[in-house]
Amino acid sequence: MKGIILAGGRATRLRPLTKVITKQLLPVYNKPMIYYPIETLVGAGIKDILIIVAPEHAGNFMNMLGSGRDFGVKFSYEIQDKPRGLADAFIVGENFIGKDNVTLVLGDNIFDHDFSGHIKAFKGGAAVFAKEVHDPERFGVVDFDKNGKALSIEEKPAKPKSNYAVVGIYSYDNKVIKYAKNLKPSDRGEIEITDLNNIYLRNGELQVNLIDGIWEDAGTFDSLLRAGNIMEAKAKAGSKK
Ligand code: DAU
Repeated sequence: MKGIILAGGRATRLRPLTKVITKQLLPVYNKPMIYYPIETLVGAGIKDILIIVAPEHAGNFMNMLGSGRDFGVKFSYEIQDKPRGLADAFIVGENFIGKDNVTLVLGDNIFDHDFSGHIKAFKGGAAVFAKEVHDPERFGVVDFDKNGKALSIEEKPAKPKSNYAVVGIYSYDNKVIKYAKNLKPSDRGEIEITDLNNIYLRNGELQVNLIDGIWEDAGTFDSLLRAGNIMEAKAKAGSKK
């Protein structure tokens, strides 16, 4: 299993914070935001990690993160020229992925959940994770039948069919590269990870796992502040033990 962190994009929702600094290098309590998705992958046992960045910030990421030795893993870097969508990670990352399976984590997603069991157990198809939230319209939303089988995933629906958001960590087998290359851009001009997940769902190859514990998409002012407060509380609780 290889790992990708998608840390490009324009982060217009966080202007002016992101006018000269990229979102994923902003502080979340005592660390740059990207440390959290890195720790998620490293904690899951993934040692070969590609970091996809926007051209104007590539130097800052390399200065900050280097070879990966400090984390005990190997980092590679690729540049995404334009924010073409989350599914573009598998096109930009094609050479890096090679013939392997891959887990993608979004560079602004902060978890406190151990994914190592899931990574070890992954056999093929796709696996996504969902969490109950009070504002599902901000996210990809999955709904289930009465037996817990996933029925559909919709990207930021105006009228969500459930309160279960699809969180920003996804595992795929190698078919993901081929599927990503065949996607058509959505109305917002991006190739959507939700469309990829729906391909696996239609093929009967999508596993949806519910997670508990902390999850924040730190892409808005409110969620960025919340993530910092949560991580402060966690760090202080840990240091009192
Ligand atoms: O956080 C989970 C949500 O992430 C999911 O529930 C949604 O289904 C999924 O589409 C995504 O929604 P967002 O609107 O939050 O994605 P955003 O545009 O903020 O991009 C997520 C990260 O990926 C962010 O760190 C910027 C980066 N990115 C984004 C795009 C579109 C790139 O590096 N390249 C891109 O082309």
